[in-house]
Amino acid sequence: MEENYVRQILEAYEGEVAGAAYFDALRRCYPERARFLEECAALERATAERLLPLVHKYGLTPATDALLARVGGRDARAETGREWTAFLRESADAYAGYVAGFLALEAMAPAEDRAVLGHLTAHEVELIRRMRAESGLPGTGGRAPGV
Ligand SMILES: [Fe+2]
Repeated sequence: MEENYVRQILEAYEGEVAGAAYFDALRRCYPERARFLEECAALERATAERLLPLVHKYGLTPATDALLARVGGRDARAETGREWTAFLRESADAYAGYVAGFLALEAMAPAEDRAVLGHLTAHEVELIRRMRAESGLPGTGGRAPGV
């Protein structure tokens, strides 16, 4: 398997674990939005769990959960003080880059990995949809397919 593909699997897994910690830690920045942020963290955790079989399949060794939690916490602290709606909209725009990256990862995947990676892409689309809906943008109702 191509080294670049396997490295991106590892990065995606680590990104989801750190992402869950990030949304968990953000509850301290936005305590009145705790429920929404818990749902985002749960989506990240579920996605990490779905990626775990690929981590094992390729014999990858992720960074420890403790280290990834510190990364997520540090990233969350960087958001301190941002207005909630601006935070949501800017995040949703930034996450579009992840969708493009995950689609590219799907395209290079062997057939047997594509279902898991399809979910990886779908979760990002769903996260963006939720953030846009939470920010009050019109036309953001419903749930993304595959999530
Ligand atoms: Fe994610």
